Amino acid sequence: MRKIFSYIFLLLLISFSAGAASLPVIPYPAQVEEKAGVYDASRGYDILVSDSTFVQDAVYLCGRFRELGLTSRVIVGADREAPVVIRRNNKITDKEGYTLDISRKSISIEAAEAAGVFYAAQTLLQLLENCAELPCVDITDAPRYAWRGYMRDDARHFTGVESVKQLIDLMARYKLNRFHWHLTDAQGWRVEIKKYPLLTEIGAIGSHSDPDAPRAYYTQDDIREIVDYAARRHVMIIPEIDMPGHAAAANRAYPEFNGGGEGIFPDFTFNPGKEGTYGYLSDILAEVAGLFPGPYMHIGGDEVAYGINAWKTDPDVLALMEREGFTDVRQCERYFMNRMIAQVASLGKTLIGWDELIDLDVDPTTNIMWWRHDKPQYLTRSLDAGYTTVMCPRKPLYFDFVQHDSHTVGRIWDGFCPLDSVYAFPDPLFASLGVTPEQQSHISGMQANAWSELLHTPERVDFMTWPRLCALAESAWTLPGNKNFADFEKRLDYSYDLFDRLGIYYFDHRSPSRVSEPAGPVIKKKTRESETNYRD
Ligand code: ACM
Repeated sequence: MRKIFSYIFLLLLISFSAGAASLPVIPYPAQVEEKAGVYDASRGYDILVSDSTFVQDAVYLCGRFRELGLTSRVIVGADREAPVVIRRNNKITDKEGYTLDISRKSISIEAAEAAGVFYAAQTLLQLLENCAELPCVDITDAPRYAWRGYMRDDARHFTGVESVKQLIDLMARYKLNRFHWHLTDAQGWRVEIKKYPLLTEIGAIGSHSDPDAPRAYYTQDDIREIVDYAARRHVMIIPEIDMPGHAAAANRAYPEFNGGGEGIFPDFTFNPGKEGTYGYLSDILAEVAGLFPGPYMHIGGDEVAYGINAWKTDPDVLALMEREGFTDVRQCERYFMNRMIAQVASLGKTLIGWDELIDLDVDPTTNIMWWRHDKPQYLTRSLDAGYTTVMCPRKPLYFDFVQHDSHTVGRIWDGFCPLDSVYAFPDPLFASLGVTPEQQSHISGMQANAWSELLHTPERVDFMTWPRLCALAESAWTLPGNKNFADFEKRLDYSYDLFDRLGIYYFDHRSPSRVSEPAGPVIKKKTRESETNYRD
């Protein structure tokens, strides 16, 4: 008898815990109170909005309702009526936080700022898409981290306007809010700069797999269109113009600013010894700053050490060293970075750079991206120095690493980056390093980086991104106590349905052989000889 009771108890427990987290939403909200009943769809989906700052998001929601085949219109005014009501609630302290209360007769959204309204809409839309009937539920939600990002590398292989927009749409669905755009590197320069047209006339030719690939880049009009598209979805774009390394494409266009270097690519660096380099790069940054209204400017700073040997014999660098009394070329790197940091500050932007900048004791307002997973001390040094820090360690957050042990195209480094490791991040790392709450207070968030040497087709980009980006979205938004991988896997079924509807070529982790791994690029014989090395 006791056995039967324990069995029934176990069944109840299993069904309760399955029910407790069964709302089909990614990322999972902070507080969910399920109520009896469903929304009476005959009430319709007209939206009442009284606060002018929320009208744009109400119009977005209305458009998405209509895409789902629902009749909807936006009513602006204070003393009117509609079943869906959007209101300001200044007691909600997180600017991305919201409440969503669905009852039988009405749907109420409250937030202090427009981003909160947008995220309430995303939760509501996922419930509408994924449930046969809209369940009555009371949700109070806010993100764990303010920085929830994804980096696309358009320099190695170019994707284009429509692909970027589709990515931004999907990011927004999963409440990701930072699109880090790696626009320049050795293989290609992808942003039009009016003052230096050769950057795209010459520098935009080629890709990682084919140095003679036709020119491909974003015009300034393309960028403005994408920035506007992203802003309407509460996605901020952070442009990266990498320097002083990873500069070979620019150096093909304007060899007068070449600092040489044979590390990863020939002509890897800009020349820190030439005064003209500073004017040239400052002009470029000024144009880029004008295109991207967000507060951040990323100027790379990674892997300079690979190209720095060339500086030891460069007459202009030697003259700089003599003038400044430097004894080591590393001091030229610091000198270069500090001048560019001042330039970024003069443009009114906050600088972001890779974790190598920590060694240069850069200004404390700099934001650091910690990427070298094998150097965890750079995370703790960054936090101890008080730098606002974004976590994107190669493991588990580089999406050019393979995600399953049956896969062969992609990077591996003492293992790879499977879905469950992305999902678990960052708490196992915090535990193993003993990262204290005070240190954690300097972390703004996390992002995945999809370097594209081996992501040369839409299929490979999608396959390496999804479903891992869903896991990242939940890690970055959902409080650790609400995370549950088994439950996440169940909710992922709805994302797979969505990807099927959208024609996204995702990796199906439920059945790894169902969707085959797309082949890697065939690297064409290099016309620029030694460009065969692979980025670190
Ligand atoms: C990097 O992966 N070089 C930041």
